[in-house]
Amino acid sequence: MIATSSSDEKLERLRALGADHLINYRETPKWARSVVEFTGGEGADHVVEVGGSGTLGQSLHACRVGGHISMIGVLTGVQGPVSTATVMSKNIRLQGISVGSRRHQLDMVRAIEATGLRPVMDQHFPLDAIAEAFRHQASGQHFGKIILDV
Ligand SMILES: NC(=O)c1ccc[n+]([C@@H]2O[C@H](COP(=O)([O-])OP(=O)(O)OC[C@H]3O[C@@H](n4cnc5c(N)ncnc54)[C@H](OP(=O)(O)O)[C@@H]3O)[C@@H](O)[C@H]2O)c1
Repeated sequence: MIATSSSDEKLERLRALGADHLINYRETPKWARSVVEFTGGEGADHVVEVGGSGTLGQSLHACRVGGHISMIGVLTGVQGPVSTATVMSKNIRLQGISVGSRRHQLDMVRAIEATGLRPVMDQHFPLDAIAEAFRHQASGQHFGKIILDV
């Protein structure tokens, strides 16, 4: 697994969680090259894309021929130029993902319980401190899920 972050401290925590290769995307804006080198010239099998238009170019470069990109977030923006030729010439499968129904949520909880997956939790906030929780999220200091106690 290859992890990217702007924070070396977060990268160390990702290493402890099992990441094999760490890239600070602020220090290495063209991080796809590092992914290709680390994978012996092949590229990544699967890219989890949370950046959107600002990061998709690097994700396409980082993805192997026949690889898969899950488009989950658009943190850098919703529109921008895309190298459609790269999608085509590398036979990349670009899949949008949007959650979800109550049924999806129940299935996910069942899968978490069945596999023993332990999601990484950041901080808890009481529901009436929801604005503080959002400020914490906006600060980008969090690592893992921010929880509202209802
Ligand atoms: N499609 C859906 O149904 C769905 C479901 C859940 C979440 N989402 C969306 O997915 C996104 C991520 O959710 P999350 O819970 O994983 O959020 P998160 O825990 O806040 O993680 C955001 C990640 O994006 C990175 N990031 C932020 N700005 C970036 C940039 N300019 N360039 C590169 N990386 C950047 C952050 O890096 P740092 O380590 O540097 O902070 C962090 O690793 C959000 O936009 C969320 O709304 C969508």
